[in-house]
Amino acid sequence: MDSALSSTQTSAAEANSAKRETLTITDNRTGQSYEVPITHDTIRASDLRKIKIDDADFGMMSYDPAFSNTASCISRITYIDGDKGILRYRGYPIEELAEKSTYLETAYLLLNGELPTAAQLKDWQYHITHHTYIHESIKKFLDGFHYDAHPMGMLISTIAGLSTFYPDAKHIFDPESRKKQTYRLIGKMPTLAAFAYRHTLGMPYVYPDNDLSYTGNFLNMLFRTSETRYRPNPTLERALDVLFILHADHEQNCSANTIRSVGSSHADPFCASAAATAALYGPLHGGANEEALRMLAEISSVDKVPEFIKRVKAGETRLMGFGHRIYKNYDPRARIIKKIAYEVFDLMGKNPLLEIALECERIALEDEYFIKRKLYPNVDFYTGLIYQSMGFPMTMFPVLFAIPRMSGWVAQWEEMLLDPEQKIARPRQIYLGHDTRPYVSVDQRV
Ligand code: CMC
Repeated sequence: MDSALSSTQTSAAEANSAKRETLTITDNRTGQSYEVPITHDTIRASDLRKIKIDDADFGMMSYDPAFSNTASCISRITYIDGDKGILRYRGYPIEELAEKSTYLETAYLLLNGELPTAAQLKDWQYHITHHTYIHESIKKFLDGFHYDAHPMGMLISTIAGLSTFYPDAKHIFDPESRKKQTYRLIGKMPTLAAFAYRHTLGMPYVYPDNDLSYTGNFLNMLFRTSETRYRPNPTLERALDVLFILHADHEQNCSANTIRSVGSSHADPFCASAAATAALYGPLHGGANEEALRMLAEISSVDKVPEFIKRVKAGETRLMGFGHRIYKNYDPRARIIKKIAYEVFDLMGKNPLLEIALECERIALEDEYFIKRKLYPNVDFYTGLIYQSMGFPMTMFPVLFAIPRMSGWVAQWEEMLLDPEQKIARPRQIYLGHDTRPYVSVDQRV
């Protein structure tokens, strides 16, 4: 079967036979030239292997730590143009989805490639809603965590734990099984997250209410106390839903790459998504929203911002919530989030840290250090302020990122599984360690 790269290459070549879509490389060690095909401005790293000094040579590799210039897959899910600040899911601009869609509809779009019809949406919502309950035994192992355990640690563990309750999830090439695990993963994420939160408070767990929306039910499981029926505030429910849309996918980021990599060994989707959640936890990825708020609290007042920026420029610390591997222009999600922040503040009162954030942004956007490095606010710069105003503790911020990202992870995982070109992820290395040497017994070591 032709790969997507080579098939597109053929049609491009047919369309423009005068223009050769190839790259000629001359190896100055041997004087030999090689011609390799170019497709989508990309060459295949494996085409470099024919570049050899002699037959015994392994052949040329490319070295790309952190994959900063390597495409690891062909994807049709999410498109980002980092220079123009564009983000689209399955072709739909993030701005339109944030305005007109819901998180569950967007999740369906990411997973299935098309927006659902009314009947498909009803069916999808029904199945997600009817997979929100978790096995009672999961409550028992949540009880084993310390009262001050970070909810991300609890979330990672309980997602992995689901694998032991659903051994049928091992049938990863059965489409019906994949569909069921998808319902379970997306349906149970808010329940696991809310139960982890209630555990930290020592409060009784609140069971899902199937009459509420995805985010409305999540708020119910988090915040319900003595009322017989919890009614979420519609502004907060919608604000959270939009935040979920914005966080649903972001192409080949660290956690998407993790689920693809772990999933490539054919681990079940619960174990693979627990690994992705662990990747998201890091402060350079989904943990940045928590770190950004801690940073704003540490700065503590507007007049201390210049001093903090000075420390950032001296390389002593980073301006958390700023900068992105791909966006070298304003993160389009940050623009939408800034708007939501004001809607939430109108209802809940202004977050006192907002002025500090705005001052950081103002100074950074005018400063040569940030301009030269193309550092702009990213998705995590303002989310913490919103979450805090909504009543979430800082430790819940990365959890709020993980819940909606599950739909993107599952979409990335399934695309990887069904891609005939993908195999177990196994990069090469450049070995610069010792050459062979004899074992030295302990009494002879110095
Ligand atoms: N504050 C100060 N300097 C920065 C920052 C920052 N936030 N980000 C990058 N730089 C500097 C960095 O020091 C380097 O400078 P120099 O060239 O002098 O060494 C230059 O900019 C390039 O940085 P890099 O680390 O090579 O860039 P990267 O593409 O590898 O890193 C990043 C991207 C997001 C990890 C980084 O910008 C960062 O650490 N930002 C803060 C953490 C953060 O907000 N993360 C959330 C990312 S968006 C949510 C998500 O999808 O995860």
